[in-house]
Amino acid sequence: MTGPGSRVQVLHGVNLDMLGKRDPEHYGTLTLAELEIQVKAWAGELGLDVTLYQTNSEGDMVDRLHRVSELADAVLINAGAWTHYSWALRDALEIAGVPSVEVHLSDVARREEWRRSSVFDGVVTAKVSGKGPDGYREALELLKRELAA
Ligand code: DQA
Repeated sequence: MTGPGSRVQVLHGVNLDMLGKRDPEHYGTLTLAELEIQVKAWAGELGLDVTLYQTNSEGDMVDRLHRVSELADAVLINAGAWTHYSWALRDALEIAGVPSVEVHLSDVARREEWRRSSVFDGVVTAKVSGKGPDGYREALELLKRELAA
């Protein structure tokens, strides 16, 4: 059963629609559609009501974040490469004003130098990186705890 304070907006940014065709060493073999099915199942187990959105357009993601406080109580975001340079997305997430957790399938801290920094530092409550799809479950658990607090 889901209820008030249990709506989570899951946001996937640039190139995440290409999962399944990306380097399996970093991103595994699941397609985005398969990952989304898994995320929905975990959310159901946790009593969370997820809405999923993916775009390759930075402006569309900003627009979505502007509406997030009407649509959801919390945000799980994997912004792809935008994570490392889109200050516009950081500002939009800050404006959204809801609890948020950042997720990366790959271990961004152990890859190229440019992947080590995130524009979301200081805005998100937690970052889960390098755990593959399981990282989404962990992020949903963190958000559930935060929404219950
Ligand atoms: C990613 C990591 C980013 O550095 C990269 O640009 C992506 C995916 C991840 O899920 O590991 O597109 O966010």
